[in-house]
Amino acid sequence: MCGIVGILGNTSVTPLVVKALTRLEYRGYDSAGVATLKNGQIERRRAEGKLRNLEQKLSQTPLSGTIGIGHTRWATHGKPNETNAHPHATDKLAVVHNGIIENFRELKTDLETKGIVFETETDTEVVAQLVTYEMRQGRPPIEAVAVTLPRLRGAFALGFLFSGEEDLLIGARHGAPLAIGYGDGEMFLGSDALALAPFTDEISYLEDGDCALLRRKGVEIHDASGQNVHRPLHKIPTGSFLADKGNHRHFMAKEIHEQPEVVGRTLAHYVNFSAGRIELPFDLPFDFKNLQRVSISACGTAYLAGLISKYWFERLARVPVEIDVASEFRYREAPLEPGSLALFVSQSGETADTLASLRYAAAHGQHTVSVVNVPTSTMARESSVVAPTLAGVEVGVASTKAFTCQLSVLLCLAIAAGRARGTLSEDAEKELVTALIGVPGLMSEAMKCEHQIEVLARELSKAKDVLYLGRGTSYPLALEGALKLKEISYIHAEGYAAGELKHGPIALIDETMPVIVIAPHDPVFEKTVSNMQEVAARGGRIILITDEKGALETGLDTMATIVMPSAHPVVAPIVHSIPIQLLAYHTAVVMGKDVDQPRNLAKSVTVE
Ligand code: F6R
Repeated sequence: MCGIVGILGNTSVTPLVVKALTRLEYRGYDSAGVATLKNGQIERRRAEGKLRNLEQKLSQTPLSGTIGIGHTRWATHGKPNETNAHPHATDKLAVVHNGIIENFRELKTDLETKGIVFETETDTEVVAQLVTYEMRQGRPPIEAVAVTLPRLRGAFALGFLFSGEEDLLIGARHGAPLAIGYGDGEMFLGSDALALAPFTDEISYLEDGDCALLRRKGVEIHDASGQNVHRPLHKIPTGSFLADKGNHRHFMAKEIHEQPEVVGRTLAHYVNFSAGRIELPFDLPFDFKNLQRVSISACGTAYLAGLISKYWFERLARVPVEIDVASEFRYREAPLEPGSLALFVSQSGETADTLASLRYAAAHGQHTVSVVNVPTSTMARESSVVAPTLAGVEVGVASTKAFTCQLSVLLCLAIAAGRARGTLSEDAEKELVTALIGVPGLMSEAMKCEHQIEVLARELSKAKDVLYLGRGTSYPLALEGALKLKEISYIHAEGYAAGELKHGPIALIDETMPVIVIAPHDPVFEKTVSNMQEVAARGGRIILITDEKGALETGLDTMATIVMPSAHPVVAPIVHSIPIQLLAYHTAVVMGKDVDQPRNLAKSVTVE
């Protein structure tokens, strides 16, 4: 993971590097650092923890220089302390790194036998020491990097700054993204276009194996074979990068409340409102009619959006769906019939495991369709088709609005597949589209439960363990509720299919255990009510999330019943996402947790 930036500027670059790092903090916030050249010598400031600690340090001991590199870290090798913080430096160079150098142990041993002493526990330091070693043998910086890169194994992106080289930065990409930004007499290097948006809207992306030599007047890019190559220039719409909290205390709160708007915007991209039909905003290189199977891979919350869509694709389009978490799919050597559809779901479009799964599927002749939120991401660039979610920038580490936008797009795809395969009549499509059009309004109404949830959160914050239950599409939602609660409140939570309760987890239930049941009034509602009876009989405290009809029909004493507006059962999971997100959010707020940047996590997981 980690975010890297490099700037060749004309004024003091430290504030610019820090500005870029604030936009990269979503990639990790275990430590941060900057290195610049002052009178040709490398100077560094580094600090453990969030970027604000580095900013504080810089205000006490400023760093001048018109060329610099910076880093925000998500620790992989070595504790998240200052010693292990990037940039790593020798007397010759400083380097920032995103990713993992898999063979660092053997490289380190080799260097140690040559008498080189290491200061840190990181894999990155071997890169600094290897290039330094080559420079001590008399190689100039560019050559020293060129002979070092082929020795490194793993997925990484690197940025180098050299002593005495006021007009040279080197960037190298091998499996982790790296963008080049073009300014007027200035050049930039960054993990993504978002980091460089304050400085330029002209970006090119390095490809795997590329090494870029940046000077103020431009960039020279060499591919893995050493050939000079040109990478296309993209104009990036800077407006899409604006992100602030508005009147909210946290980004997560703002993003929860934005959902009616961004889901509406996303739906407008896929739905012909007047015709009551789905109209996909892209051509498909295959016909849904001919599909034998769809395979879906994704991670975390995006995986759970995919899991909900399995119910939709199978029910509405009668096509079998196979779904895996991407970290399993990429290694399980799944046999794939050429010409089938492989779907990938990702907010960032950079998640290492999902990207590797996409590459596996493409190499096995699949049509790859990616549901992504970042249109400039690697997944978007490498897929046969991009199905965009228009959630806007999502800053909170816990995904909320990206999730409901993913659900909206996946449902549109399932409906389109159903129509194409003749499993959904025109009238059935109209009924579903009408239900979809109503979703943003229902989501707004669903927000009215917020005050009730704030009160309930005080109770929930006292729990040590929480169980979430649901059936059908509410089952993945139960998993999502548990994931959301544990990642931001650190309360242990588990999600189960309600029918699985009696096969083990029922043993956990007693009067201390809150059980959150998600049960809209759908065809499996009565079954879930029976499972709630089983919980109630054992003294479990039920928090029921249902709709108006469900609330009337349960006939059970609950600790609380959160009533959602009635929705068509197919779209209900999109509406019912709101209370599970609010419940996690307010519980974490009551507990005083860092809601937007929970410990140990990062927004974009670019290592496996
Ligand atoms: C949880 C969360 C993560 C992400 C997962 C995949 O709230 O946000 O589980 O969903 O890391 O990330 P993307 O969607 O960027 O591939």
